[in-house]
Amino acid sequence: MDYDVAIRGGTVVTASDTVRADVGIRGGRIVAVADVIDGARQTIDASGLLVLPGGIDSHVHIAQASGPGIVMADDFASGTASAAAGGNTTIMPFAMQQRGRGLRECVEEYRELAVGKCLIDTSFHLVISDPTPTVLGQELPALVKAGYTSFKVFMTYDDLVLNDRQLLEVFAVARREQALVMVHCEGYDSIKYLTERLEAEGKTAPYYHGPSRPQIVEREAAHRAISHAELLDVPLMIVHVSGREAMEQIRWAQQRGLPVYAETCPQYITLTEDDMKGLNMDMTGAKYVCSPPPRDKESQASIWEGLQQGVFHTFSSDHCPFRYEATDGKLNPRGRTSFRWVPNGIPGVETRLPILFSEGVSKGRISLQQFVALSSTNHAKMYGLYPRKGSIAPGFDADIVLWDAKRRETITQSKLHHGSDYTPWEGFEVVGWPVMTMAKGKIVAENGKIIGKPGDGAILERGLSPYATRRARH
Ligand code: URP
Ligand code: ZN
Ligand code: ZN
Repeated sequence: MDYDVAIRGGTVVTASDTVRADVGIRGGRIVAVADVIDGARQTIDASGLLVLPGGIDSHVHIAQASGPGIVMADDFASGTASAAAGGNTTIMPFAMQQRGRGLRECVEEYRELAVGKCLIDTSFHLVISDPTPTVLGQELPALVKAGYTSFKVFMTYDDLVLNDRQLLEVFAVARREQALVMVHCEGYDSIKYLTERLEAEGKTAPYYHGPSRPQIVEREAAHRAISHAELLDVPLMIVHVSGREAMEQIRWAQQRGLPVYAETCPQYITLTEDDMKGLNMDMTGAKYVCSPPPRDKESQASIWEGLQQGVFHTFSSDHCPFRYEATDGKLNPRGRTSFRWVPNGIPGVETRLPILFSEGVSKGRISLQQFVALSSTNHAKMYGLYPRKGSIAPGFDADIVLWDAKRRETITQSKLHHGSDYTPWEGFEVVGWPVMTMAKGKIVAENGKIIGKPGDGAILERGLSPYATRRARH
């Protein structure tokens, strides 16, 4: 048989198996997985390495409008380059509706920013912030049919929050159109109340971002979202779960047989609220401000419990990159001093896989199969990209990462390719590192060097999520 590329001598790992095998690639697709593959035009030696499905990061924010005076640090070129260097071959950012505007015009505007810029495949979720009758009755159904098959709604943030009635209306459309609805679970009113109280007490340092949205706020919102979804009999994906309280609500729902799925992120297994203290409660704590905020060690242990027990289906970065030392960044949030104005979000698309591998596989908390499922396969299945993405078998795109399971690295800003000027994991030591990333049969990153070019990646439409379609329709 005729191959463009053969990856030889490695250990192929999927969500179900670990086998010693070569991989044959033709036309950007995997065409053979076999004992020996000879006669390819290009041979890549993978001896001593793991051959894994490329990472799929189904929760990233790139070039997203973030409010006056705030600019995201990554555009599609830098964001996808950073993702590729970190072992990813597909990312899924959010095309966000701005309140007062039509959904379709926002999506088209956002798509324009990405066309010709991506180094790896990219597919958009939607964000619904203004569920008008036109959006719910016409634009959203049409966009779902056009391949935007998942969308996120928020239970907090002034410019994004939906009230309960709006959530129910949006959930009803998700059910009817068989789209997967993703929810940011934090209660708006509680956060607002606590924020004002903290500010009145003069507690304005970045550290107080944590106390302004404690776990109970996330737990209450998760329970409310689950209840609304149960009422309407619609599947639900709860994103960026931070700790025990929300995780237990999700497990409770799952144990009752509800189709409730969940995602967690590196910050919730490695960072704590103490990181937001910075150096003696100064602004450096802003480098860790994200929502929900990192919690405590006990919560990290429960997140591991959830990862091990299958409560969580996906492990995403929630990469939301801002600069620190910039007028449009975290140090000087719109010229104001309170934590309330610090842009929420941290960079992490490049460090997600090494952190999960190191803390999970290298430390014996999860298996290689769980690692692949949580970092790639489950994302493809959850969001309608399977069986094109997310595994290594004939017919799949040749999206592959060669992984050195023994390599020790210290995460540091100078090694990373994102647009942020810092990493929250500065000095963090990991065992396990991506040494080569191949997207659709072409090497896009090798040993920290970016080889791919903007335009190599496509913008993908997706099929319906099987997790959203398993219920009977009315
Ligand atoms: O702080 C975060 N996570 N910012 C990103 C936006 C979101 O809610 O996912
Ligand atoms: Zn969110
Ligand atoms: Zn996010």
